[in-house]
Amino acid sequence: MSEAILEAYAVTAGYVPDLPILRDVSVTVQPGQITLIIGPNGAGKSTLIKAIAGLLPVSGGHITFAGRDITGIRTDQLSAHGIAYVPQTDNIFRSLTIRQNLDLALRRAGSEAAARMGLLFDQFPALAAKQRDKAGTLSGGQRQFLAIAMALATGPRLILMDEPSAGLSPKAAQEVLEHARALTARGVSILLVEQNVNQALRLADHCFILAEGRNQIDGPAEDLRDNKVVGEIYLGNRRVGAA
Ligand SMILES: Nc1ncnc2c1ncn2[C@@H]1O[C@H](COP(=O)(O)OP(=O)(O)OP(=O)(O)O)[C@@H](O)[C@H]1O
Ligand SMILES: [Mg+2]
Repeated sequence: MSEAILEAYAVTAGYVPDLPILRDVSVTVQPGQITLIIGPNGAGKSTLIKAIAGLLPVSGGHITFAGRDITGIRTDQLSAHGIAYVPQTDNIFRSLTIRQNLDLALRRAGSEAAARMGLLFDQFPALAAKQRDKAGTLSGGQRQFLAIAMALATGPRLILMDEPSAGLSPKAAQEVLEHARALTARGVSILLVEQNVNQALRLADHCFILAEGRNQIDGPAEDLRDNKVVGEIYLGNRRVGAA
């Protein structure tokens, strides 16, 4: 196996001191792959993404990206390191136009901003057609595409995506997930949290299952499809490795 681009090793983190939500959680992302994180509500999936993105203090373990220690990274330094984060909620500015949203995402691109905006509009023609409209008028799927376009604006090597298909129709969810897949063909690596488990397992390369803030099982996504243990973890009947 090639060297991981992202490694979170034995991460312990939470929102309040001495009250860890994640305990000793480890995940790795291989370059150019989609690594999926699934687990029941409240499992700690978003918390893990936030810990990687430097939004929460990490009290144990460490996180490396492209061979560098990024544990406790300042969130405003993420894009300089080549990481973009698409949050689970509030990931666009609804009262601004599509173009204004992208302007914000491109604010550090300097003289390259116009060219990059053009490339993003080539990639997302539906957004180009509506660029003067308020982002709040977009469909749910288009809003997620705008959030992904904003993430891509910084030219990331890794995108952290937290439930990009939440609340979308099955068709729109499939489009968003297929777009994520297409990004990996260009060398972008993705750490993807999803609740559309079956859809996501068909697209992802590797999958980690979390429950109650701990690793449960992980493996190649195709091996976890139709796996009985996966269903049992969701139904709450099974905990692997929990104290
Ligand atoms: N801002 C916060 N302050 C304190 N506790 C929080 C905060 N956000 C989440 N938690 C707690 O952390 C735990 C894990 O939440 P998290 O949002 O990481 O779960 P999740 O796996 O992303 O769930 P979901 O599938 O519902 O998005 C939950 O017990 C939750 O109540
Ligand atoms: Mg979440």
